[in-house]
Amino acid sequence: MSHKDIERVLVTREEIQAATQKLGKQITEDYGDKEIVVIGILRGAAIFMSDIIREIDLYMDIDFMDVSSYGDGTESSGEVKIIKDLDTNVRGKHLLIVEDIIDTGRTLKHLVDLFKYRQAESIKIATLLDKPERRIVKDIEADYIGIEIPNEFVVGYGLDFKQKYRNLPYIGVLKSSVYE
Ligand code: IMP
Ligand code: MG
Repeated sequence: MSHKDIERVLVTREEIQAATQKLGKQITEDYGDKEIVVIGILRGAAIFMSDIIREIDLYMDIDFMDVSSYGDGTESSGEVKIIKDLDTNVRGKHLLIVEDIIDTGRTLKHLVDLFKYRQAESIKIATLLDKPERRIVKDIEADYIGIEIPNEFVVGYGLDFKQKYRNLPYIGVLKSSVYE
């Protein structure tokens, strides 16, 4: 149904799978015998989260946080709001934040500061997509990046436009007629 609203596919299902496997392997090697807490940022990262944790061979807890820096459009509001907080006490823990995409960097900046304040032992970031051209917060970099993409609004594999298209199995660019 929703496929017809897609202008073109930017990242295929196979490319997403390959990137996820590669990151999972690297994360497994980097943490060695450490135990981690993997934190998925709802709702966008839910799909990537469920795939990447099965590529990581470490003892882990998982938890989710729902934050929003977006309205219903394609532009960030600049405001980060916590809609659902963690259930886990992160003090002294090794955290791996899993995001769908880093755009302006505001969301992650806010979360990293929050987890530092809560005295996490270490904080790393894994993101499926990175849009470096759009970065506003300069000191935010992901430790693990799946795929760099150009400055285009994308949907699919968790990413939405007005809460739709999250179930597409690939990352695609919407036809401009859909949001104009
Ligand atoms: P940031 O705080 O600007 O880095 O925004 C990150 C959040 O904005 C992501 O978790 C996404 O939910 C959303 N976002 C950024 N770019 C896109 C996009 O191209 N498509 C859909 N959502 C996006
Ligand atoms: Mg998001």
